[in-house]
Amino acid sequence: MRGRIAGTGSYVPERVLTNAELERMVATSDTWIFERTGIRERRIAAPGETCSDLGTRAAERALEAAGVAAADLDLILVATCTGDAPLPSTACLIQQRLGAVRAAACDLSAACCGFVYALGVGDAFVKTGSRHVLVIGAEVMSMLMDWTDRGTCILFGDGAGAVVLSPSEGERGILSSHLHSDGNLWDLICVPGGGSRIPPSEKMLAEGLQYMKMKGNETFKVAVKTLEEVAREALSANQLAVEDLDLYVPHQANLRIITAVAERLGLPMEKVVLNMDRYGNTSAASIPLALDEAVRGGRVKAGSLVMIEAFGSGLTWASAVIRW
Ligand code: UT7
Repeated sequence: MRGRIAGTGSYVPERVLTNAELERMVATSDTWIFERTGIRERRIAAPGETCSDLGTRAAERALEAAGVAAADLDLILVATCTGDAPLPSTACLIQQRLGAVRAAACDLSAACCGFVYALGVGDAFVKTGSRHVLVIGAEVMSMLMDWTDRGTCILFGDGAGAVVLSPSEGERGILSSHLHSDGNLWDLICVPGGGSRIPPSEKMLAEGLQYMKMKGNETFKVAVKTLEEVAREALSANQLAVEDLDLYVPHQANLRIITAVAERLGLPMEKVVLNMDRYGNTSAASIPLALDEAVRGGRVKAGSLVMIEAFGSGLTWASAVIRW
């Protein structure tokens, strides 16, 4: 039996950071940011508000929507690159908060692609006998921002989304996952310091190596190419035409990337879910957050055919096709 998304949930911090505020922090403008990215504002976690705080709220809503008790979860996967701490996993902290006493719990690191990867892994567990799997994408991207670097700090935001996967008896569920990576492109997006290569030190902090560095323009081009490829791969594996899709929920990195991919695929923008204007790029949280809004907004119905896809640091790219 394949995994079916039985419920979705999301949560974003209250604090809104607008483009107008960023204009006062770096040499940028609301016009530049909106025209080049589609972003108007993003959410920022309050001081002390952690990745597990956001993830727990999203998970509670997904469990409620699915009608599944936390105690019945077999596995919790948290896709994140901004967990509460290096140890323990954020998944274990969320497990404790939910009271998911039977669940195995671990984090998965695939940056902005993390949720699509975790969904594929969760589905494999359902296929091999797990009953309920909680898949969360949760990020506090603001902790990785150099607020003097206009090339990155305008793009990212904080948030969380979650889904509950349960076994599906019929045609509904995750029809395919296609996951890819190319480590040759590791330096397009990276956080150089804070790990075993450059451990935390005063020098590391002084050089700002704890912050994200990105080659934005190169990433943009690779993203458009790989997203088109992995969408076509998914359609062909399922013997589907692009017209068969009811909804396309892409990683909310940049409106121009999404428009370019949709154009290349021949997918009308009415079928595309967009929310980066309000949240920016929330990395692994972006797809489950958009998916939850689409479900609660009535854009996804039983039987809808939904494609999700993402790209991110690694470099990683991935897609999944879901019959709702
Ligand atoms: O989840 C994966 C995460 N990564 C991404 O999604 C990154 C994908 N890349 C992008 O979204 C775009 O490349 C950016 C939005 C980051 C940049 O847009 P771009 O159209 O690729 O701009 P660019 O880097 O080619 O820069 C064009 C100009 C440059 O000025 P000059 O050299 O032409 O004078 C930049 O210095 O825009 C300038 N610029 C800015 N100007 C105002 C770069 N950032 C800003 C800014 N405000 N925030």
